[in-house]
Amino acid sequence: MANELLIFTGNAHPFLAEAISKILKIPLGDIWVSRFSEGEIRVKVNENVRGKDVFLIQPTCPPPNENMMELLIIIDAIRRASARRITAVLPYFGYARQDRKDQPRVPITAKLVANLITVAGADRILTIDLHAGQIQGFFDIPVDHLFAVKVFVDYLKEMKFRDLVVVSPDVGGIKMARAYAKRLSAGLAIVDKRRISPEETEVMHILGEVKDKNVVIVDDLIATGGSLIEAAIVLKEAGAKRIFGAVTHPVLSGDAVQKIGNSPIEKLFVTDTIPLTQEKRHPKICVLTIAPLLAEAIKRIHQEESVSSLFD
Ligand code: R5P
Repeated sequence: MANELLIFTGNAHPFLAEAISKILKIPLGDIWVSRFSEGEIRVKVNENVRGKDVFLIQPTCPPPNENMMELLIIIDAIRRASARRITAVLPYFGYARQDRKDQPRVPITAKLVANLITVAGADRILTIDLHAGQIQGFFDIPVDHLFAVKVFVDYLKEMKFRDLVVVSPDVGGIKMARAYAKRLSAGLAIVDKRRISPEETEVMHILGEVKDKNVVIVDDLIATGGSLIEAAIVLKEAGAKRIFGAVTHPVLSGDAVQKIGNSPIEKLFVTDTIPLTQEKRHPKICVLTIAPLLAEAIKRIHQEESVSSLFD
């Protein structure tokens, strides 16, 4: 396998790439990703990739535009160096929230970005917990869409909660919350959230029973923290006992970390699809790794095996 499979990374998340390379026992590919003096991205692949099955690990997390451009330019370099196949491994797919024209004269940026990645030369996509499953259809190349649910559920099961209720912070997250509730044999509740603007929400009602229950709010991403924290406050007011969050992608923009610190959330579980820089660390935030899941998927894709059992 080591002869054919190569793993490269840009500057988005080298720690995750390193963890995956250790699991697969394949050293990271030799690549140089730097900047020209004015900031343009400069790439050189320092080893032969001709005929190889290349996996490029690069979440398009903050800074999204830098990481996205690196992704495109590295794909271009690898494609022009005659790799047999290039899989863009996007543990976090940024720009996914702009996935429809919900107002006049706005872009569908998720589709634009999918086009850019494809045109650059990616043959496949491997990703986790897309903001909406339908985004797979924005790509005209195969997409393997994994879920972090198993990683969280294995951990939450060990905590042996009684009276557990899984809560979706909005109606759009019901499917995800149901998947958690089923695996945890827990109840299900929904916070009926209304979005006032892209970065502002207002909580309306709770659908389901949360009084005297331990609750875990599940979501695909946390950015400003508004959705999660407002949900936590309303759940507390409704009599929930202990409140936890399980969120796949810790974007954590602005003062989100500080707000979590001051919120009724006891612990926020996130994954390492996005690196947690020093200023984003907090005793309440616990990181679970998705490196073994991605490593297994990469191995199976390379060996042309089914990845569907990873969804169980
Ligand atoms: C919304 O549809 C998403 O699933 C998240 O709930 C939302 O994007 C999180 O953003 P924020 O943390 O800024 O409320």
